[in-house]
Amino acid sequence: MKEALVLVGHGSRLPYSKQLISDIADEIAKKDKYPIVTYGMMEFNEPSIKEAIKTVVEQGAKKIIVVPVFLAKGNHTERDIPTILRKEPTESAKKLMAKKEAAHDEEGCCGHGHGHGHGHGHGHGHHHDHKSDIIDELPEGVEIVYRDVIGLDPRLVDIVIDRAEDL
Ligand code: NI
Repeated sequence: MKEALVLVGHGSRLPYSKQLISDIADEIAKKDKYPIVTYGMMEFNEPSIKEAIKTVVEQGAKKIIVVPVFLAKGNHTERDIPTILRKEPTESAKKLMAKKEAAHDEEGCCGHGHGHGHGHGHGHGHHHDHKSDIIDELPEGVEIVYRDVIGLDPRLVDIVIDRAEDL
């Protein structure tokens, strides 16, 4: 079964986010572990996640492994990306959304920043509507598996210490 690895990065108005994800994808590709390695960006940059999925489907991928290259879980990784991939929101996202609903009911209406469906508040202003970002229906025999964020990996500790020591 032809596998594709699709990294997902956040994206930025500055070039660094996309460049880093692209470089990581290149390094992974060199390992020859996956016949296809590419990336899609959550926002601001091309290719979008939708475009990346379309590309690997066209390249014949049957199993598409999507890894969010995010350190921590958040609205993008738990809700937005699953939505784009036509996956159920993760369990943590469901809890989060249930909480938000409850808060909304208490507060009455609007004007407290929950409304546009993004909600992590770094002011992008363009991603109210993720509907058009949702991938096309997958052809028969193609599956997407959506993996976890990086999270607390002991290898991170060494990296952070290296930075602290200015290495
Ligand atoms: Ni964002």
